[in-house]
Amino acid sequence: MNPIKLKENVYWVGEIDWDLRNFHGYLTQRGTTYNAYLILDEKITLIDTVRPYLYDRMMQRLSRLIDPSRIHYIVSNHVEMDHSGSLPLLMETAKNATIITSPHGQKGLLAHYKRNDWNVKVVKTDETVSIGRKSMKFVLTPLVHWPDNMVSYLVEDNILFSNDAFGQHIASSERFDDDYPLDISVDEAKKYYANIVLPYSSQVQKAMDALSPLAISMIAPSHGIVWRSHVNAIVAEYKKWSSNKVENRCLVIYDTMWKSTEKIAYGIQEVFESMGIPTKMMNLRKNHISDIIADILTAKFICVGSPTLNSNMLPTVAGFLTYLRGLSPKNRIGLAFGSYGWGGQAVGHVEDILKECGFQMLQGIQVQYIPDNAQLQEIGNTLKQEILGVGGSSVS
Ligand code: FEO
Repeated sequence: MNPIKLKENVYWVGEIDWDLRNFHGYLTQRGTTYNAYLILDEKITLIDTVRPYLYDRMMQRLSRLIDPSRIHYIVSNHVEMDHSGSLPLLMETAKNATIITSPHGQKGLLAHYKRNDWNVKVVKTDETVSIGRKSMKFVLTPLVHWPDNMVSYLVEDNILFSNDAFGQHIASSERFDDDYPLDISVDEAKKYYANIVLPYSSQVQKAMDALSPLAISMIAPSHGIVWRSHVNAIVAEYKKWSSNKVENRCLVIYDTMWKSTEKIAYGIQEVFESMGIPTKMMNLRKNHISDIIADILTAKFICVGSPTLNSNMLPTVAGFLTYLRGLSPKNRIGLAFGSYGWGGQAVGHVEDILKECGFQMLQGIQVQYIPDNAQLQEIGNTLKQEILGVGGSSVS
């Protein structure tokens, strides 16, 4: 319940959501935090808030530092309700506070909370606001990942309050990257990027360019741990992820009815592995789509299999493909496969969606009923040639 000091007069006053396991469809096995930050200066400044059900706890935490009615500025970096959700409650206490937000933030807050009586100061990129001895600079980062997004920079302390960017869904009492296992933090940041930020990769690159003149010694995101010892490393990861650069890896993602599509799936795995391409099997009944997307972030070959059910693909596969299409990863090579009894429409449907994703497609694989060893051998030989045709064994 204590505030945690980031730097002199700068504190984390957010909340830990230990129980959260699903964030609008994203599986959050490790829970999350909603990070709010308090800067003690002549004009006391709060950066973002928490979900309303954690409001009381946030207020208890920050009341250990100040009387909340003295908050002068509330920076709303992002309208999404995990960060702005407590504003209506907070504004009842900090009645004279001014909300600092982007132009889209102003519209978004009004649309969400229908309050015309709040003091709102709209800022634009590179605008600086003095809060006393220190000053805040703002950079609009539209569509990373909502139109209203902006980041805030505490000039004298070189802290970037990056909101969702660089965040991770991790609930922990540790607050800093050097207190918590780095591999988990980076993996969760990768999963976060893949599931939330990926469609906006070109906007991420623009935002990184806009931020490049700033000296950043600490990145304080709105979820998870604060980066202070590995700032360059996480920035490098963001540059890689936003560039859509992929590794020579393969994912075989499938569901199966009577194990025939699964037999083809394992046949495909054998071919890729025989060519030295690491391949991961991802049965849609055993893996959550948000975990699969994290792997897709860096994999070049995406093979998707479904048997035909009622002239279509299985609902698990359809759900996954709908999610994938929305996240629109680029520069992938796709393959559709599956078994069928009669009709056999599933592979065509899968292929159509992978094409809509912009994937370069390998020749689809279909087998009626149960594939035997001779059929799998033939499929393997053809597939090998296809992979060589796209430079598969030497692509990196
Ligand atoms: Fe953490 Fe886009 O909200």
